Amino acid sequence: MKKIIKLCVLGMVPLTLISCNSSDSESLDDKIQKLSLRPIQKPPQDKNIVKLGQMLYFDRLLSGNKDTSCATCHHPYFGTSDNRSLPIGVDATGLGPDRKMTYPHEIVARNAPEVFNRGDKEWKSMFWDSRIQLKEDGTIDSPAKDQLPEGLNNVVSAQALFPLTARAEMRGFIGENDIANLDDSDFIGIWNKVLERIKSVPGYIDLLKKAYPDVPLENITIAHIANAIGAFEIQAFSLTNSPWDKYLAGDKEALTPKQKLGAEIFYGKGNCYKCHAGALMTDQKFHNIGVPQFGPGKDPVTGLDYGRYSITKDEKDKFKFRTPPLRNVAYSGPYFHNGAYSSIKDVIKHHMNPEESLRNYDLKNIPEDLRDTYKGSPEVINEILSTLDPELKNIEELTPEEFDALVDFVENALTDPDVNYLSIWIPESVPSGLPVDK
Ligand code: HEC
Ligand code: HEC
Repeated sequence: MKKIIKLCVLGMVPLTLISCNSSDSESLDDKIQKLSLRPIQKPPQDKNIVKLGQMLYFDRLLSGNKDTSCATCHHPYFGTSDNRSLPIGVDATGLGPDRKMTYPHEIVARNAPEVFNRGDKEWKSMFWDSRIQLKEDGTIDSPAKDQLPEGLNNVVSAQALFPLTARAEMRGFIGENDIANLDDSDFIGIWNKVLERIKSVPGYIDLLKKAYPDVPLENITIAHIANAIGAFEIQAFSLTNSPWDKYLAGDKEALTPKQKLGAEIFYGKGNCYKCHAGALMTDQKFHNIGVPQFGPGKDPVTGLDYGRYSITKDEKDKFKFRTPPLRNVAYSGPYFHNGAYSSIKDVIKHHMNPEESLRNYDLKNIPEDLRDTYKGSPEVINEILSTLDPELKNIEELTPEEFDALVDFVENALTDPDVNYLSIWIPESVPSGLPVDK
C-alpha cells in the first residue's frame, strides 16, 4: 500500500492519479498478477472410469469387515469430510457425528480432510504430513516404498491405496478378516486381496470391461482400481465456480465489496497468502501454527502427533503440518489436523494469536469423549510453541470490519454453490449389494 502511494506522488501525470483513487481493487489485482493466481482447473476424466470409481468409492466391500467406504469419511453430505474432529472407521455404524463403534477400539488419529480439487495439476502431495509426494523425476514417494504399483495416474490415485491398508480406517484388526490378518508391511498382499474381492463381483467385471476395454481382466491391477477412484474424486469434487474463481477468471463483479475487502486482507495485512499460497491456496509445505494436541496421536511413546517430523525425523519439523487448501472450507469443519475448532472465526482467531489460543484452549471445542485425551501440560505446550511459525507474527491487528470481511471471504467467496449438490453422486446401490452410506 505504502509503495503505491509513493508511486502516485512521483507519477505526476493525471492518468496515474486517477488509477490511484481506485487503488483498492487495483492493489488486489496487482497481487493476483504478481502471485500468478488463477482459477482451479479440473482435468477431463473418462466417464466409464469415473462410473467404476464412483461405485468403488461408495462400496464397503473395499474394507476388511465390509463396514466402511471412502464415503464414510469423505461424504458428499459433509463437504467431502465427515463432520467429526477425529474419524471412526471400522467396526462401527452410522454416519458423520452419529457414527458409533460396535465395540471399543482405536479411533483415527487425524481429522479427515476435504478432498476438493485434488486433480489440479499443481497438487504434488497427499496427507497432513505429505507422506505421499510426487518427486521431480515424476515418481511417487509413499510409505509402501517399492511396493507401490506401477501405472498410477497421479498422487490422488496413489493416495487411494492407503486407506485400504490402515487398520482403523478400512482394514480392520487382527482376527477380524483375511485382509486384516496380513502383516502391516505386506502392502502388495493387502492390495491383492482387495483386488480379488472386487474381481469376484460380477457387477464389477462389467464395469471394469467398460472402463478398461483394452485390458483383459487378468491384467487389471490395483493401480486400475486406484486410478478409477482418483478419477471419480476429481470428476465429482472439482468445483471451479466459487466467486473467487470467477473473479480470478475475470468476472470483477463476482465478489461483493465486503468479500473484496476480505481478499485484500487475505493477500495483504492478514498475511494468509504466505502459507495458503498460489492457485491452490496452499504452499504444500509444513508449518507449526500451535494447534492443541489431543486424540490417540501418532507417536506410540508420547501419544503426540509430531506431523511432518514423523516422516523426516528432523527436529525442526516437529508439530508441522501441511498447509490445507481453503476452497469450500466452510463445509468441511471441524478444522485443523485433529479438528480442534469447528468455526472459521475461531480458526482465524487462533492464527492471529496462536500462543494465547493454545494456552487457553477450551475443551468444549471438542466432543466429550475426546477431552480426556487432551495433552496440555506446560511441557507439551512449551514444546509446541518452540517451533511456532514466525509468519504468524506478521498477521497485523485487524479492525472488527476487516476481520468480518476476511471471514466472509473465506466462508463465502471460496465456496462454490455446487457444494450443495454433491449428493447427486451418491449411488442408489453398489455392485457388492452392501448398504450405501446415505
Ligand atoms: C475412517 C476414515 C477414512 C476413510 C474410510 C478414508 N479416509 Fe481418506 N482420509 C482420512 C484421514 C484421517 C486422512 C488424513 C490422514 C493423514 O493425513 O495422516 C485422509 C486423507 C485423505 C486424502 C488426502 C487429502 C490431502 O490432500 O491430504 C484423500 C484424497 C483421501 N483421504 C481419500 C480417501 C479415499 C479415496 C478413501 C477410500 C479408498 C478414503 N480416503 C478413506 C480418513 C478416511
Ligand atoms: C504460517 C503459515 C500460515 C499462515 C500465515 C496462515 N495459515 Fe492458515 N493454516 C496453516 C496451517 C499449517 C494450517 C493447518 C494446521 C494444523 O492442522 O495443524 C492452517 C489451517 C487453516 C484453516 C483450516 C483449514 C482446514 O481445512 O482445517 C483455515 C480456514 C485457515 N488456515 C485460514 C487462514 C487465514 C484466513 C489466514 C490469514 C489470517 C491464515 N490461515 C494464515 C498455515 C498458515
